[in-house]
Amino acid sequence: MANKNIVILGGDGIGPEVTAWGNDVLKNIAEIFGHTFSFQNELIGHAAIEATGEPLPDKTLDACKQADAILLGAVGHPMYDNDPSKQVRPEQGLLKIRKSLGLYTNIRPIKIFDELAHASSIKSEILKGSDILFFRELTGGIYFGEPRERQENGEVAIDTMRYSKMEVRRIAEKAFEAAMTRRKIVHSVDKANVLESSRLWRETVNEVAKNYPEVELVHMFIDNASMQLIKDPKQFDVVVTGNMFGDILTDEASQIAGSLGMLASASVGDSVGIFEPIHGSAPDIAGQNIANPLATILSTALLLDISFGMQEESKAVIDAVDAVLKEGYRTTDIAEQQTPKDKILSTDEMGKRVVAHIKQAV
Ligand code: NAI
Ligand code: MG
Repeated sequence: MANKNIVILGGDGIGPEVTAWGNDVLKNIAEIFGHTFSFQNELIGHAAIEATGEPLPDKTLDACKQADAILLGAVGHPMYDNDPSKQVRPEQGLLKIRKSLGLYTNIRPIKIFDELAHASSIKSEILKGSDILFFRELTGGIYFGEPRERQENGEVAIDTMRYSKMEVRRIAEKAFEAAMTRRKIVHSVDKANVLESSRLWRETVNEVAKNYPEVELVHMFIDNASMQLIKDPKQFDVVVTGNMFGDILTDEASQIAGSLGMLASASVGDSVGIFEPIHGSAPDIAGQNIANPLATILSTALLLDISFGMQEESKAVIDAVDAVLKEGYRTTDIAEQQTPKDKILSTDEMGKRVVAHIKQAV
């Protein structure tokens, strides 16, 4: 029996349409497993700018700081995309909330549902059964290192790849902890043959590994890792890497999974975490009740597991998604040519099916 306070940040575009189903899934999980979850909706992004002038109002940030977990849809509106002159922008809300909450680890599961393996550009026999958990460092490395500046009258530019042992240790520990609950393999990805920061990364990961003798640690260079990911994704269980390498590798991995509408992510630090689908606000389909809610529903599975330590509840959500896909139901984005018309569902119909399965299974 647990009392948990969850902040829902629907955001913009399809965000509120899909987080509504994340909310409903969590509400049903609470009822079935005897927990008390309370929900609080707050504004972020363009919706918040319209209402208050700020992409992240203080009220939202305060609520998030008090929360046990945060479920986010997406932010972004087309009116800003071709107008860099706009000073107040939706994505500032996201960057500010991540920074304010100290979210230094981005977690992205790449699980290929067998039913959808054919949707990828990779052969399904190579993909089937792949289940990778990425840990990308989010607040350090070359995106933040100083100096970063122009020199010599603007003819030369400098960025700095900087890591401290503390920064590497805390994310490596999270990765090893996760590996203990899985297949017990960690791939640490770096460029230690060239970069000093990567040599520190490797040295520190080796130190952390000593505390996890049951976990097999494999070091891999980033260039090789990006090749291996396509060649044989099943070899990976948990992958831990720095900010820039992780940015590139997780986008590559999202494409092997086939659809944006299926992928969840978590950004966590030492306290509250944000759970969100990796897709954006999809203005092209907003308001039509056709967005795929599964990425958001799978984000609630991550939330239950990572923030609340509720593995059984988390599995109930993933199993329900799996069951609905096995029955052949699809939203438009994951439908195949041979999908019969009556199996193509709206956002709300898909949400209802998943909830019905969660209720049935327990
Ligand atoms: P997007 O992910 O919103 O959409 C890309 C394509 O995928 C679109 O055709 C869209 O209809 C489709 N799609 C995305 N999610 C879907 C879903 N759940 N179901 C069915 N189809 C789906 O990326 P795009 O178009 O580059 O960006 C749109 C807006 O979202 C921009 O303002 C961008 O800045 C913002 N964005 C926000 C993110 C966030 O809040 N974390 C992440 C990425 C983009
Ligand atoms: Mg990226």
